[in-house]
Amino acid sequence: MKITIIGTGYVGLVTGVSLAALGHKVYVVGRDKSKIDKINAGNSPFYEPGLDILLKKVLSKKLLQATVDLEKSVITSKVVIIAVGTPTADNKIDLSQIIKSSEQIGSAIKKSKDYKVVAVKSTVVPTTTEKVVKPQIEKLSGKKIGKFGLCMNPEFLREGQAVEDATKPDRVVIGAYDKKSAEVFLKIYQKVKTPKLITNLRTAEMTKYASNALFATLISYSNEIARICEGIGDVDAKEIWDGVHLDKRLTPIVGRKRIRPAVNSFIFSGCGYGGSCFPKDTKALAHFAQGIGVEPQIIKNVIEVNRTQPERMVKLLKSVIKNLKNKKIAILGLSFKPETDDLRESPSIPVIKMLLKENANVIAHDPAVKEIKGLNINFAKTIKDAINNADAILLMTAWNEYKKIKPELFKKMTTKPLLIDGRRIFDKKEFTDAGVIYKGIGLS
Ligand SMILES: NC(=O)c1ccc[n+]([C@@H]2O[C@H](COP(=O)([O-])OP(=O)(O)OC[C@H]3O[C@@H](n4cnc5c(N)ncnc54)[C@H](O)[C@@H]3O)[C@@H](O)[C@H]2O)c1
Repeated sequence: MKITIIGTGYVGLVTGVSLAALGHKVYVVGRDKSKIDKINAGNSPFYEPGLDILLKKVLSKKLLQATVDLEKSVITSKVVIIAVGTPTADNKIDLSQIIKSSEQIGSAIKKSKDYKVVAVKSTVVPTTTEKVVKPQIEKLSGKKIGKFGLCMNPEFLREGQAVEDATKPDRVVIGAYDKKSAEVFLKIYQKVKTPKLITNLRTAEMTKYASNALFATLISYSNEIARICEGIGDVDAKEIWDGVHLDKRLTPIVGRKRIRPAVNSFIFSGCGYGGSCFPKDTKALAHFAQGIGVEPQIIKNVIEVNRTQPERMVKLLKSVIKNLKNKKIAILGLSFKPETDDLRESPSIPVIKMLLKENANVIAHDPAVKEIKGLNINFAKTIKDAINNADAILLMTAWNEYKKIKPELFKKMTTKPLLIDGRRIFDKKEFTDAGVIYKGIGLS
């Protein structure tokens, strides 16, 4: 099937590549010609494990083409997928990219006689597809719904594992305006053996928010428990979670083996969630709920706990070093999670801003992020360069290469090693026994 995807960000490009890998002919449409050229040369404009390899493969089979020509791509395609950004502005979803792309699709559809299905893959608050996308397309195309189909197909991929998630999805949720739209859209996933849930448009939209808000809630709940643990004294939240996770409803025992579902990684304390989804989606959902007269009491507090969680890192640091002026503070990890270079809403940003406000000398290391625009910090090429003579080391992202660090390295590179573990990846006893001052979220 010929498919156009509008947007060449994480979702647009990864979806495009994975649908091409299924054998579809895919056009990914972007606005930036240099990015388009890069994609056509087999190089992803962002870091995502495995993406470049699959991109090169589908390009060599001529199954994918990146382009700035939206109109031609839409006219040529049977299905058009909207995967543009839906950021929040003033805590409210900003639908400007959705509106613009709907208008462009409508104008292109006007020039085509064929029946096409438009699908929204971007995360949008319930009723957006019906109340924003549909009327825009109808207006610009001069065609009533039915002459074109409409679906809402939320995306559940996780950055860092996006290729795996998109090529082997754990589910496909299809909200459809009518049966015909659903039938056409389902054909895309014909070869994929996974549960397929057909719903109405608004149910599909809400499923995505319910999912993201659930994971964000687990994280903020775990961080609230960490705060209580820090207040009690002589309690470590990490041990608390070990005990909680052993509940067989969380880690079922099958035969003689204990299964450790991935959800448990969200029931764990740290310096907060970030990224392009949880922060903006919880805010958009809370605002949307208020708009329909529902007070989002839990979600509001999930957001507030997360907003203030990075402050705990600086608080722990200042419990040892009161005055940070001219102190060399090493930051290990900038991205919001490992295996991505995505800095959006990363907890490392507010932490760095707080440190700079206190006139600390910040040096950062990250395996994937090599610059942060607008922040006056130094970058270290290696972990050793970052921690050399540092007054303190703040671990912000749980990259695998950091997990391998031994306390001896801190001892060797610094005179009085102080480590603040924002992800609790290090063994407290090992580091303390070796003479490192070890502080961590949830540890008093
Ligand atoms: N990033 C994730 O992990 C993830 C996961 C699931 C869902 N989502 C949702 O998917 C959507 C896209 O997310 P993303 O991270 O890929 O965003 P992104 O900001 O990385 O990419 C969006 C892209 O769309 C392009 N774009 C916008 N309007 C366009 C137009 N009219 N024509 C051509 N290109 C246009 C932008 O230039 C940008 O490159 C969002 O709604 C997001 O919430 C993201």
